[in-house]
Amino acid sequence: MTQPAAMPHVMNTYGRLPFALSHGRGSRVWDTEGREYLDALGGIAVNTLGHAHPVLVAAIADQAGKLIHTSNYYQVPLQETLAAMLCERSGLDAAFFCSTGLEANEAAIKIARKFGHDKGLERPEIIVCERAFHGRSLATLSASGNPKIQAGFAPLVEGFVRVPFNDTAAVRDIARTHKNVVAVMLEPVQGEGGINPARNDYLRDLRVICDEQGWLLMLDEVQCGIARTGKWFGYQWSGIQPDVMSLAKGLGAGVPVGALMVGPRAKDVFGPGNHGSTFGGNPLAMRAAVETLRLIESEGLMRNADTVGAYLRAALKRELAHVDGVVDIRGEGLMIGVELGRPCGVILTRAAEAGLLLSVTADTVIRLVPPLIFTTADADETVAKLAPLVKAFLAEQA
Ligand SMILES: Cc1ncc(COP(=O)(O)O)c(C=O)c1O
Repeated sequence: MTQPAAMPHVMNTYGRLPFALSHGRGSRVWDTEGREYLDALGGIAVNTLGHAHPVLVAAIADQAGKLIHTSNYYQVPLQETLAAMLCERSGLDAAFFCSTGLEANEAAIKIARKFGHDKGLERPEIIVCERAFHGRSLATLSASGNPKIQAGFAPLVEGFVRVPFNDTAAVRDIARTHKNVVAVMLEPVQGEGGINPARNDYLRDLRVICDEQGWLLMLDEVQCGIARTGKWFGYQWSGIQPDVMSLAKGLGAGVPVGALMVGPRAKDVFGPGNHGSTFGGNPLAMRAAVETLRLIESEGLMRNADTVGAYLRAALKRELAHVDGVVDIRGEGLMIGVELGRPCGVILTRAAEAGLLLSVTADTVIRLVPPLIFTTADADETVAKLAPLVKAFLAEQA
């Protein structure tokens, strides 16, 4: 897709659709021509509360009228409020705030390295997974398991050892052969890699191996965290506790905010001067995140993600599972992938033309990550719009 001439002064780093959205309400958005869309993408798993949630809008406006930004030279009480809420919900001990997912993961990578250096290891290594996505900074794209996003950016950051996802034996092999490993880093549900859930027994095995080896278990919950899978955090389905967890995307319901959470083993690795961020933890972002967490609870959105997600998956399976060329329909809560047997990027455009926003990831996987306020009626409409498109696409010559 070529860049439409409408934005000639914006650097050409995205393949954009040729329309602009002007406003939204709940799970609906409208473009500048007045066309309506059902938003099953939620800004890529960001708009937790849908669009223009009146309570969130009022809180942001109130905060903007008091203080948007100060500096981390001073105490920021809203950071403590949000950190305490996240600690209570995760069982972890402390938070560092930043603005994006890649920043949270950079902080995780730095913690792992310093954890290693503190133990006397000069070249610490982190185990990462095939098909992982951790961001687009040099360190996080090096940690990612996607050659496409790495192409053109060598030399990559060293210190990552890659293993197949959901493969305990591969991690045990590395434990035998690599003496500098300090951490394992993975997504409990891979997002960009094609909506691939980690098996619960795999996460439990990793916890055991990390304990045996004295490694940090670092979970990237940037996409699957914040109630998307039907629990606060994706790992909570497995009953384990990580040592380090990164968050962003849904945390601020659209206001940029990321967090790195740490448990007892990682809590004291950083000291003053080891890490920082100008915007990280500013009062506006903190207020948006505090309000987002409160609203997820008061509106029962965790349970909604679980039940509407199961409803949507079941409906998609009823309509599509038997269709030739549909490989799999999978996911957790409102993080759903429909895998087709061949690249299907064109579905994104066709769905938008039909009034449905979604994305295609890993070339062959249609991704649905709608706002957590999605209803069963929204799910029905999604299937009614998507299923005929998929059938028509698969009936075409490859
Ligand atoms: C699991 C995961 N980690 C990290 C990132 C990077 O987040 P950001 O784009 O906010 O830097 C993403 C973004 O898609 C992600 O899905």
